[in-house]
Amino acid sequence: MTTTADLPVPVPELEDRALACATRLRDASEVLLVSHIDADGLTSAAIAARALERAGIPFETAFENQLDADAITAIAATGHDTVLFTDFGSGQLDLITEHKNTFTPVIADHHQPADAETEYHLNPLLVGIDGASELSGAGASYTLARALETNDTDNRDLAALAVVGAVGDMQDTDGELTGANRAIVAEGIEAGVLEEQSDLALYGRQTRPLPKLLEYSNAVYIPGITNDQRGSVELLSGLAIDLKQDGEWRTWVDLSGEERQTVVSALVECALKRGVGPDSIEDLVATTYTLVAEPAGTELRDASEFSTLLNATARYDRADVGLAVCLGNRDAALDRARTLLETHRRNISEGLQLVKTEGVTTETHIQWFDAGTRIRETIVGIVAGMALGAENVDRGRPIVAFAEKSETETKVSARGSHALVDRGLDLSVVMQRASSAVGGDGGGHDVAAGATIPIGQQAAFIKHADRIVSDQLDS
Ligand code: C5P
Ligand code: C5P
Ligand code: C5P
Ligand code: ZN
Repeated sequence: MTTTADLPVPVPELEDRALACATRLRDASEVLLVSHIDADGLTSAAIAARALERAGIPFETAFENQLDADAITAIAATGHDTVLFTDFGSGQLDLITEHKNTFTPVIADHHQPADAETEYHLNPLLVGIDGASELSGAGASYTLARALETNDTDNRDLAALAVVGAVGDMQDTDGELTGANRAIVAEGIEAGVLEEQSDLALYGRQTRPLPKLLEYSNAVYIPGITNDQRGSVELLSGLAIDLKQDGEWRTWVDLSGEERQTVVSALVECALKRGVGPDSIEDLVATTYTLVAEPAGTELRDASEFSTLLNATARYDRADVGLAVCLGNRDAALDRARTLLETHRRNISEGLQLVKTEGVTTETHIQWFDAGTRIRETIVGIVAGMALGAENVDRGRPIVAFAEKSETETKVSARGSHALVDRGLDLSVVMQRASSAVGGDGGGHDVAAGATIPIGQQAAFIKHADRIVSDQLDS
């Protein structure tokens, strides 16, 4: 029998590519590591950084919001002869290969590849694995890290960060990680850095006071609980559970297994009584991923809370803080990250409120809103995705959101559902084609994608996007 222990990498289909990339990196005198600024990009960079360090390969790290022609030209101008791209690069392969006389690219990514060839390219989509749901950028980076193993370490401890990246890219939206991600979870468990458990699927199990856990439960909307402080406290007070300890609210992880069961049963009963559908009720419980080497009661212990903490740094120009947290700086960097998290939370909540009060404009096949300068362009996608799950936004149509990026450019973020993808939706293609029709650039995944377009082109963009979605859903 073949066990995972016999394989050098967790994803056998990617083994040859991972080994080729690893060999090229070992041959480099020094490497520029460039990654994407979000939770998946930060964890990708942290995994690669650790693996390069352990393999004794000198490197420098840089982050980019978007890898466009200017960014790639600037990278080429740094004079590094080997550039490792993580969590992006595939979609910009055409632009990157224009610099092939200046540097050798090594790519560990999971985005839709552009039409160009390159030698060192690790991407699940090249071997028939879904890059939107089965392997993240951090998963690709982890696969590379495993191929970079040394006599001292097999790098399996880095599986925990790979899971944070996958969860940050919302690859667990069907209730658990699937596909190639499973092998990474298994390696993390074997290495003793990860635990998986079926548990309440609400955000904040490690850090939120119990009533807040229920009140902020936007994953499943329960009338009288969600956004209802009094209702949440009332439900909990009616149970035979101590809600406080030493005068402080307890959190979910403070509860015993039996106490948790009591709360879940009460919540399910309450949701049923208030007309929540069986599918939504099922969503209340999901597989959760715990980073067992991290301190209990901190954001770092839960993959979902960890990934949000990272988005709170990277999407506010502080990727350095997020990277430091990933790499184990648990003092200054963690404090800074927590402060950024408060701002991030406030911005998300204000953004959702804006969508709620102003509503969306519905076209034949899509719906959209234009936040202008009122939502930061780096988080407008997160708000769009969360709005799609909210009370009064139709889940039957993909949502497109605009935010001003600069005086000349508008950022576009689009989010769909797995049900729509099953019917033929591919937002990566929609964003690519509709943006190029108006002089912009776009890409991403079938279920979540984005673009940058010239300012003032929103209406034309929407017309193109609506027609392309119509074609996709009909065919
Ligand atoms: O560039 P990157 O691949 O990291 O971005 C993925 C984005 O897609 C994330 O913002 C993630 O939240 C979003 N996503 C989503 N729903 C999914 C999968 C991904 O909103 N099912
Ligand atoms: O910010 P990010 O996209 O990583 O958030 C992932 C999920 O975590 C969101 O879809 C949301 O359900 C939850 N979240 C939350 N409250 C926050 C931030 C995130 O409930 N302040
Ligand atoms: O920025 P946002 O979270 O909406 O991005 C969703 C997905 O679209 C990400 O995978 C991102 O890398 C991709 N994207 C892209 N080109 C852009 C903007 C976003 O490929 N111009
Ligand atoms: Zn990613």
